[in-house]
Amino acid sequence: MLAAVAARTDAQHPVGALELQQVPRPRVADLPAHWTVVDVHAAALNHHDLWALRGVGLGQDQLPMVLGCDAAGTTPDGREVVVHGVIGGEGHGVGPQERRSILSERYPGTLAEQVAVPTWNLVPKPAELTFVEAACLPTAWLTAYRMLFTSARLSPGDRVLVQGVGGGVASAAITLAAAAGLEVVATSRDATKRARALQMGAGHAVEPGQRLPFRVDAVIETVGAATWDHSMRSVRPGGVVVVAGATTGDAAPMGLQRLFFTEVTVMGATMGSRADLEALVRMCVTTGLRPVVDSTFDLADAPQAMARLASGEHVGKVVCTVPHRT
Ligand SMILES: NC(=O)c1ccc[n+]([C@@H]2O[C@H](COP(=O)([O-])OP(=O)(O)OC[C@H]3O[C@@H](n4cnc5c(N)ncnc54)[C@H](OP(=O)(O)O)[C@@H]3O)[C@@H](O)[C@H]2O)c1
Repeated sequence: MLAAVAARTDAQHPVGALELQQVPRPRVADLPAHWTVVDVHAAALNHHDLWALRGVGLGQDQLPMVLGCDAAGTTPDGREVVVHGVIGGEGHGVGPQERRSILSERYPGTLAEQVAVPTWNLVPKPAELTFVEAACLPTAWLTAYRMLFTSARLSPGDRVLVQGVGGGVASAAITLAAAAGLEVVATSRDATKRARALQMGAGHAVEPGQRLPFRVDAVIETVGAATWDHSMRSVRPGGVVVVAGATTGDAAPMGLQRLFFTEVTVMGATMGSRADLEALVRMCVTTGLRPVVDSTFDLADAPQAMARLASGEHVGKVVCTVPHRT
């Protein structure tokens, strides 16, 4: 079957390390008990794939590795499903002995015609969502959902700063927060993206580092060094900064004095639980909210899709589809 594979790692030119390859289909006989082979209809790209191609979190001994953490597809008995991409750790269907990993780290990922996962990881796809929309949810949208509602425990009327607009997590956070009745401020380096943030439901969109009209209850931080100081200056005393990524690195000083003096909480977040994913899917159905899709590509054009993600010009999710299935 066709798959987009990290054939090697390249810190400077990660997109060039991606190859389209024919790989063996997962065979039920080779899988652990209670795993299912899913026919992938759509698989969304994430910054995680670029990190992997750069060699971050993916060792030479794991190559070649099928990329991709997000998918929606059908099971052998015809059920439409969204794939929860976290495997191992407590409650993930493979037992507590197994160290937590995300698809494409230990097990082959979703940028292929088929992916094998623990049956426990399959969440029903509602008919209201297309496969492309559903495939956007399990990583970036799930992480944004968890940051806003499970980690920061934000409520309608609360104020939140989302650093960055263009990223998958950031655009999801803006959209989800606005739908939940939060007052959203977003930052972007790009005027067009700031305008998009307002369309997505942000009340305010400013340049990175710009003073906000008010202090916020929480910051959704995935940018890292470039925005960290602004995040710490923008959160109200007693507020929370939730961190799920560091696209620009983690070299910024922590600002410890401000941290302890204003009693700010800094929390980490990684992906979300299966229960978070089910709640997110329900939220999309009941509110009519849909993921922001930047562009879709055939799986055979995965290198172009990855180049689009690497360009930083995207707003929302870049998705690959398997022809004849969507
Ligand atoms: N912990 C988890 O479970 C989890 C899940 C998903 C993602 N992540 C991580 O979260 C991070 C974001 O990933 P993503 O896929 O959502 O998006 P991405 O494509 O990495 O987005 C980059 C974001 O950073 C901003 N940005 C980039 N360079 C900047 C700079 N020099 N100054 C200011 N802003 C800058 C961009 O905003 P503008 O272009 O609008 O300025 C954009 O919003 C990644 O590091 C990823 O690995 C973690």
